[in-house]
Amino acid sequence: MKKLPFLTLLVLFPAFLFAGEGMWIPMLLQYNEKEMQEMGMRITADDIYSINHSSLKDAIVLFGGGCTGEIVSDQGLLLTNHHCGYGYIQRHSSVEHDYLTNGFWAMNRDEELPCPGLSVIFLREMRDVTAQVLDGIDIEMAEADRQAKVDANIKKIVAAVEKETAYKVSVKPFFLGNEYYLLLEETYTDVRLVGCPPSNIGKFGGDTDNWVWPRHTGDFSIFRVYADKDGHPADYSHDNVPYKPAKHLDISLKGADEGDFAFVFGYPARTSEYLPAVAVDQEANVIDPIVVDLRGKVLDIYNKYQEQDPKVRIQYASKHAGIGNGWKKWMGVTEGINHFHGVEKKHAFEGEFQQWVVGARNRYMYLDLLNQFKKNYKELEPYQLAYTYVAEAGLRIELVSFAGRFAKLSEVTKDTPQDDIDKSVASLKTAAESFFKDYYQPIDRDVAKMLLAEYLKAQPADFRPAFLNDIKDVDDYVDKLFDKSMFTDEAKVNALLDGFKAKDAKKLANDPAMKVYQSLIGFFRNEVHGHIAAIGSDNARLQRLYMKGQMEMQPDKRFSPDANFTLRVTYGKVEGFKPKDGMKYKHFTTLEGIMQKENPDIYDYVVEPRLKELYINKDYGRYADKDGTMHVAFTASVHTTGGNSGSPILNADGQLLGLNFDRCWEGTMSDLIYDPDICRNISVDIRYVLFIIDKFAGAGHLIDEMTIVE
Ligand code: ARG
Ligand code: GLU
Repeated sequence: MKKLPFLTLLVLFPAFLFAGEGMWIPMLLQYNEKEMQEMGMRITADDIYSINHSSLKDAIVLFGGGCTGEIVSDQGLLLTNHHCGYGYIQRHSSVEHDYLTNGFWAMNRDEELPCPGLSVIFLREMRDVTAQVLDGIDIEMAEADRQAKVDANIKKIVAAVEKETAYKVSVKPFFLGNEYYLLLEETYTDVRLVGCPPSNIGKFGGDTDNWVWPRHTGDFSIFRVYADKDGHPADYSHDNVPYKPAKHLDISLKGADEGDFAFVFGYPARTSEYLPAVAVDQEANVIDPIVVDLRGKVLDIYNKYQEQDPKVRIQYASKHAGIGNGWKKWMGVTEGINHFHGVEKKHAFEGEFQQWVVGARNRYMYLDLLNQFKKNYKELEPYQLAYTYVAEAGLRIELVSFAGRFAKLSEVTKDTPQDDIDKSVASLKTAAESFFKDYYQPIDRDVAKMLLAEYLKAQPADFRPAFLNDIKDVDDYVDKLFDKSMFTDEAKVNALLDGFKAKDAKKLANDPAMKVYQSLIGFFRNEVHGHIAAIGSDNARLQRLYMKGQMEMQPDKRFSPDANFTLRVTYGKVEGFKPKDGMKYKHFTTLEGIMQKENPDIYDYVVEPRLKELYINKDYGRYADKDGTMHVAFTASVHTTGGNSGSPILNADGQLLGLNFDRCWEGTMSDLIYDPDICRNISVDIRYVLFIIDKFAGAGHLIDEMTIVE
């Protein structure tokens, strides 16, 4: 067989790695330093991550377990996104103090609001422990034995390090289990709400603009981290003092021009850049389109009713947001993968890989890898589809998933202690109250009719939940289900819960909505889950091997491990993009655009009167751009994903330019394949953030704490 010249590789994957691609481990950043500096960076890798002196990493936290935050003063002041602080703002809001609607600004430390349950985590140190974790592992080992050995090694390592430190110690796999890193972390649990803009600013554009450029969202909120007198983590106490970080971020008022170097420092949650073509194809062309189609139809029904009635609009706002976020994202994944010919490119690469494998005898372990992937994914597909319909069609019916909350209670017997029963009853009463507050039965009926019709059309009679086979006429079936079930009726549910005894369980179990729920879950448990788990575990083994093979095949390539909720640096340039032939997106938006979008009748586009006044008077102070306008948001070719919300985007000097909060939907395939032409992250310009704090809210005392570089 003719050996392909090395050049072919370069043609298929120019330099293999695109500037902009990759989520880098901070402790290994010295390997990227040269490229970063060539792109314009004026600081060093050591300024970003060091364990010998303070560095930017000391200012970055994992916020609330799902977002990123950064410290911007020596008094523990923290910035993150509005949508990251949302839940905490909501918990402090009431009709009298509606902070979501009106915003909130603590004018002194005493006004700052404790947020029970909120914590931030600082990474103190990272160590490569690959050799110790893989000690005694060899490639021929059975998977279970391997895992047991890895777990035992990790336990030993953690126990040893715990003796020398007060920090929390953990070990996480990187490169799909080919490398392991130890993390030393410190968790602060006294974090207080300091300020947030009204939703008309912090959520401007709402779900309509979500994932979309041009964007005008002031997506920020402000918190403060507190510590005990010695600076150590402590639970909330009035005696706690503001946390003094080893480092806080400087803030630049200069903004960024197109082409400027920029980097994001934060906690990306999950990416899968090294999947085989079959996996990407299945996700982008089989599963995602079904989810998008079903969710789109659900959203159409929501929209119809939400437009008719303002009360329903509010009731379904958060459900709409949740369903809509994934809907738009996965639409972008499919579009992007196909536009980029992602599957074909992966196939072409796999051709190269196979050539490489047969090129030497000691690569025998990779020989059948791609075939096994193909076989596994083919086998997986019907189960994956079955799971998709259970989740997106069956359980999407609110009546059915609500009934499911009572499944445990429906199984109690006379032997169950009344105490346990009372406990579940109490929590179900709360659940029922919040369910009915936001439940509008006509929507759910329409959704159920639509979804069950789709379910019947799509899934084979011999491989689907049994209840579907009893349906003759969908509309009639759904009407009867809703008429007969008690779970549509708040009074009936409460009447049953009041003084609930074991003998009442039968009434729950016999409810028709409960039976639908049990049929769905039983089918999933008995016929689907085991297969997905078994194939998934074999795929994990293949993935690890494939990753290893790719690294051996390209010894000169710098690989970045998939995101796994650990601290990463990603970098690129501030730039716009061309979403389609004939179109070019600029890299920034301005307050002008907020005025263009203004529509007092559309919830997402209401402009605050005070903001309008500042706009009319052009009262931007030192926060205006050199072009005289107020910049609101900007895009960059920096590789980000969920979890990067709230992450700082920094300039060549490591100064804060803005807060990352989203991506453009055309490039959401970057979780699978990064394409520098269309993958863009979106950040709110820090100057807009400061302008809102200072000019809009009159909370200039917060700015005084920060280090501003003019
Ligand atoms: N799309 C962004 C992220 O995944 C922001 C979501 C919150 N914003 C919204 N308008 N729903 O998750
Ligand atoms: N909005 C996302 C988040 O909440 C970040 C955007 C993305 O997925 O890139 O984490």
